[in-house]
Amino acid sequence: MLLEAAVYKELLGAVMFHEVQRVLKLDTETELVKSHLIQNIDRDQIYATLGQMAIVVPMKDEKLQLIDGVLKAIPHKCPIIIVSGSKKEGPNRYKLEVELIKHFYQFTHSRIIMVHQRDAAIADEFANAGYTAILDEDGLVKRGKGEGMLIGIMIARAIGARYVGFVDADNYIPGSVNEYVKDYAAGFLMSQSDYSMVRLSWRHKPKVTGQGLYFKKWGRVSEITNRFMNMLIGAKTGFETNIVVTGNAGEHAMSIGLAEIMEFSTGYSIEPYQLVYLLEKFGGESVPEGLQHVYDSGIEVFQIETLNPHIHEEKGDEHIKDMILMSLSTIYHSSISNETIRKRIKDELKSYGVLDDGEPPKPLVMPPIGHIDAQKWFDGVRAHSDSLLELKPW
Ligand code: GDD
Repeated sequence: MLLEAAVYKELLGAVMFHEVQRVLKLDTETELVKSHLIQNIDRDQIYATLGQMAIVVPMKDEKLQLIDGVLKAIPHKCPIIIVSGSKKEGPNRYKLEVELIKHFYQFTHSRIIMVHQRDAAIADEFANAGYTAILDEDGLVKRGKGEGMLIGIMIARAIGARYVGFVDADNYIPGSVNEYVKDYAAGFLMSQSDYSMVRLSWRHKPKVTGQGLYFKKWGRVSEITNRFMNMLIGAKTGFETNIVVTGNAGEHAMSIGLAEIMEFSTGYSIEPYQLVYLLEKFGGESVPEGLQHVYDSGIEVFQIETLNPHIHEEKGDEHIKDMILMSLSTIYHSSISNETIRKRIKDELKSYGVLDDGEPPKPLVMPPIGHIDAQKWFDGVRAHSDSLLELKPW
């Protein structure tokens, strides 16, 4: 794969943000390209890396046709982990998903693990490990995309993956999903550190208009979150920046090393909070206790602009407003935020009608999961689960 090299970088403490890198050629024999401005990633190495990467697909009540396309597009070498929060009562969408996945497996023999987010065995194993931040008042794992992703990370750890990537289940273009996963691999191959993250930004996010398709560059939520995330970085360094273009990157991947030291916020605030957390915890000069090795290695954040456009299910204005509120709340409540940023966030939220007076809600944060023995956790789930489906176990 050929990518623009990241020339501009922002270094804050242990965290290095690489500027966005565009895909120049998706699939190449790359030996002939010699330029310092072009990053040259070997195709064989990309495929070798895919074999070490589990792909988590969080899903909740999505169209079966879309799920089918997404699964078929994930490269065969990647184990697939599906965490579903779908309805089980009238109509039982989860049952339909299970049938779809079994059918898909019969033809492809992909490596698949599927669980339901509200399976009591999962909650019990989190409780046994003393990890109660993810549980609700009924003692089950809370609903929400972030919580589903966290279950996926635990399973990825248990099966020995080196990397974990996420793709949404509501993507209309299977070919774009195939690219996303290869972009993740390319990002990890550029990294010098065991603690790295690859976040994708869309080349375009097309919208249907009266005049046909319009290839919009930015989604509303992304534009707003990126603006405030960059302000937060500027507040820390004293230099204005536009380095962050992936504040809300639902499509992203992490090394397991990074996933183990990460804190997670709930629902849709999970992606912006990852950056806020890295800045708060590792963005300064003082080394958090027991994490000297992370400082020595450094944390790298890559941002890749995809070649494919992103077309997904539109879930309406209220959903967008909710995402804006949740995203900006993570920045508002950050310890490195300041009064100017907070005032501007309040004004922005008021302009969208999602805040009256007062403050945006403080995000609920789930602590790192690195100390939980993932193998033991998963053995426990295996022993008692009523939803776990393991196809081609390993
Ligand atoms: N397991 C589980 N549990 N999955 C969920 C849940 C849940 O409670 N809620 C949503 N999902 C799944 C959806 O089915 C979909 O596959 C994925 O999570 C993303 O949810 P959407 O509701 O489709 O989000 P979006 O498309 O508006 O926003 C996406 O893109 C944003 C910008 O990149 C999400 O990935 C956001 O997190 C992201 O910030």
